[in-house]
Amino acid sequence: MKSSQALRLFGLFNVCIASAVQPSTKLKNATADPMFQLSSDEDFHFELLRVLSLAPYEGADIGEVLVAAKKIAAGDFESFYDAFYDLATQVDETARNIDKDKYPVSARNALFRASSYYRSADFFLHGNWSDPRINSLWDKQLNAFDTANSLLPVPGKRVNLQARDGNFTVPAIFFGTGLTGPRPTILMCNGYDGSQEEMYHLIGKAALERGINVITYEGPGQPTVRRGQNIGFIPEWERVVSPVVDFAIQHPEVDPEAIGLMGYSFGGYLAPRAAAFDKRIAAVFAVDGVYDFGKSLLDQFPQELKDIFYSGDADTFNSVIEAAVADPSTKTVMRWGVQQGMWSFNIDTPFEWLTKALAYNLTEVADKIKQPIFIGDAQLDQFFPGQAKALADAVGTNALYRYFTADEGAGEHCSIGASVLQSQVMLDWFEDVLSKDKE
Ligand SMILES: *[C@@H]1O[C@H](CO)[C@@H](O)[C@H](O)[C@H]1NC(C)=O
Ligand SMILES: *[C@@H]1O[C@H](CO)[C@@H](O)[C@H](O)[C@H]1NC(C)=O
Ligand SMILES: *[C@@H]1O[C@H](CO)[C@@H](O)[C@H](O)[C@H]1NC(C)=O
Ligand SMILES: *[C@@H]1O[C@H](CO)[C@@H](O)[C@H](O)[C@H]1NC(C)=O
Repeated sequence: MKSSQALRLFGLFNVCIASAVQPSTKLKNATADPMFQLSSDEDFHFELLRVLSLAPYEGADIGEVLVAAKKIAAGDFESFYDAFYDLATQVDETARNIDKDKYPVSARNALFRASSYYRSADFFLHGNWSDPRINSLWDKQLNAFDTANSLLPVPGKRVNLQARDGNFTVPAIFFGTGLTGPRPTILMCNGYDGSQEEMYHLIGKAALERGINVITYEGPGQPTVRRGQNIGFIPEWERVVSPVVDFAIQHPEVDPEAIGLMGYSFGGYLAPRAAAFDKRIAAVFAVDGVYDFGKSLLDQFPQELKDIFYSGDADTFNSVIEAAVADPSTKTVMRWGVQQGMWSFNIDTPFEWLTKALAYNLTEVADKIKQPIFIGDAQLDQFFPGQAKALADAVGTNALYRYFTADEGAGEHCSIGASVLQSQVMLDWFEDVLSKDKE
């Protein structure tokens, strides 16, 4: 392709991506967004809010995150790393200086925070797969989390579950309520980029407080499996979930008739997909719902670029996307989205990545989801606009569609920043669904 043509397409692409950042909503600009912005970079705002969102459930403290936030330059991935790495090491050191036999709660609080900050430090580093920080930060986050976990009144138990076809293992943590008797249990995973450790703070602890057992897990493509087993995402998520259900029902404290399955973000595709094939799951949460992942990516491209993709011209397609990702003036959400996509799918070109992404499509599967399913949507969702509604429409009457608004402070993707409100809405729904079953 002539360089002038590539440049023109690239310009067009950037304009489309810019408009895709605040799509499909009535609020088209930051002035209209009722929430105070933590960075002029929309994606940094989102990631900062995401860490703050863990504060109500022991995963962060607000002041220190806002101090770190002030050191970050919009669009500068290394500055994001520096700010969070400094904070993480500082809080980790504080934690290690606490006598954990004497002050177990204080030590645990600090270790959980340090763990979250190591994860944030890692977040924007996946563009260079040989960056040693990808693994070293992860070891630190796991280490801090595990020490904190050991100081919980009922520590979570880590296991590695064998997939049925023997191809990979599924790391999971069983967090029991410590209460007697078989109880409701929610199995939960994150999506494109989040960990099971984050899930504990995001919603796990809120479920435990309500007497619901929690099993967090990760599958291929997700942080620990991608690193430790070198496997990218697979569309048949039931291969990941079924061993977790097998494991859950071995526990006397798990009521086998009251198992929920929850997926956040890209997990809004993964959980419904698994529930369509594993009928032992009594209720599902897609937060937010994802119906056709490939379409949601393609929707952000100008028609000419879509045509190039469908023509099979991988070289041209890759050169346009690679130029966009390498350009620091390209929106962070797009640069990061492609880098994280290739890393988590374990695929080294944009063309192959997008080709693989087309398989994550619930069109032919939605009518097999017979369980009650909670489908969250968020007014300002910058990643999967329109997808949650499409999933709810396709599933039909067993779907409960909940639109979280910007005015509620819950309009961001996954309603991040509103974890207390979201826990209330979703977990009350779960209890209602289970009590209806018993009537
Ligand atoms: C942004 O939204 C506000 C409030 O709706 C409006 O007054 C303003 O004109 C908008 N700005 C742009 C650049 O669209
Ligand atoms: C990727 O990281 C490795 C290890 O730090 C470094 O040697 C290499 O230069 C980096 N590559 C790029 C393209 O930045
Ligand atoms: C097992 O994993 C390998 C490598 O990822 C893959 O080529 C193979 O198809 C997988 N086997 C099954 C049964 O999925
Ligand atoms: C998803 O699947 C449906 C039904 O097979 C198909 O019509 C649609 O084009 C697929 N989406 C994409 C992006 O390929």
